[in-house]
Amino acid sequence: MERVEIKLRENPYDILIGPGLLNNLDNLIEDNTEQNFIITDENVHSLYADYLKPLTNYDTIVIPPGEESKSIDMATNILKTLLKKGTSRKSQIIAFGGGVVGDLAGFCSSIYMRGISFVQVPTTLLAQVDSSVGGKTGVNLMDYKNSVGAFYQPKRVIIDTKVLHTLPYRQVLSGIGEIIKYGIIYDYDFFQYVIKHIDQIKCCNPDIMSYVIKTCCEIKAKIVAQDEKENGLRKILNFGHTIGHGLEGITGFSKYTHGEAVIIGMYYETFLAKKLGLINKNYSKEIMDFIEDIGLDLNIDDYPISQLTNWMLKDKKNVKGKISFIFPIAEGRVEEHFLTKDELIDINLK
Ligand SMILES: NC(=O)c1ccc[n+]([C@@H]2O[C@H](COP(=O)([O-])OP(=O)(O)OC[C@H]3O[C@@H](n4cnc5c(N)ncnc54)[C@H](O)[C@@H]3O)[C@@H](O)[C@H]2O)c1
Ligand SMILES: [Zn+2]
Repeated sequence: MERVEIKLRENPYDILIGPGLLNNLDNLIEDNTEQNFIITDENVHSLYADYLKPLTNYDTIVIPPGEESKSIDMATNILKTLLKKGTSRKSQIIAFGGGVVGDLAGFCSSIYMRGISFVQVPTTLLAQVDSSVGGKTGVNLMDYKNSVGAFYQPKRVIIDTKVLHTLPYRQVLSGIGEIIKYGIIYDYDFFQYVIKHIDQIKCCNPDIMSYVIKTCCEIKAKIVAQDEKENGLRKILNFGHTIGHGLEGITGFSKYTHGEAVIIGMYYETFLAKKLGLINKNYSKEIMDFIEDIGLDLNIDDYPISQLTNWMLKDKKNVKGKISFIFPIAEGRVEEHFLTKDELIDINLK
């Protein structure tokens, strides 16, 4: 079993990674709580509910799968259920699922009785390398993704790499988007590793998944430890996300998974960096060639830049109407730049 520490001044915690950790869930969840509430979705519940049985004193809340569940209404329902069941401040919430379950359950934990303990047990690749780590929790409101939320750290993250075998391929690819991102923003050697082992990563080869997930968690841990609330450095995690979120929004959060949108976003943001002369040609070619080979349709001609820009203008990270971009500028290095709508339309994505 691998262990990664998140060294925060307040509330430090560890991430445990390895195959088969679900078999030992009762021991890994340090349990001095009155009651555990497992929040999970229907898919994960039907596949993995048996692993919960050894836990003593637990109750389960099962939600429908999918982004639509990440809503204020669903959070309200969960909070009402907790109240009706007499859940005390000494209870604990366990998020058992992908990023939707993790963000929603974490948000409920952060506000129920001003905050109760919570543990993340992520089951998608995206949640294992990204969303379960770092304490961002929240729900969507109207068309605004993650517009309501809180920074709230889990007590522990438990990652069983074996559950990846039941994950649909699109969801694996979605996680791969965030994996590529870590290499480009922080660690060029890791980017090279991902390029070299992409076929094994695509089929979740158990020999390399623990290493890949551990490395991603280590990179995120280092970034979050330096900037927990995203005042500076943490923004680099948004590479690919400005255009990615625009694409998710313009297509009604239905055409692309989050990670697919991020992969396309990284492609076009690298293209923009090249057009702005921020990155050398060889390196931008390396990134763009690799993404072209991933096997995703990168054509976004259906979404004109002016409409995409309207979505990007909704981003929380923008300043005074200027859109925040994280651009790759050299191997393992990125930099924040701001562009106006007009500047973007002038440059275009073609
Ligand atoms: N908090 C953060 O820092 C952060 C970071 C990135 C993304 N996110 C959020 O994460 C969400 C996306 O998360 P996601 O990609 O995990 O999607 P998801 O939670 O919707 O899961 C994707 C699908 O996989 C199914 N599933 C989960 N585990 C499975 C398994 N082991 N086997 C088979 N099926 C399984 C789910 O039921 C669902 O249908 C978005 O809402 C995004 O905003 C949050
Ligand atoms: Zn993301």
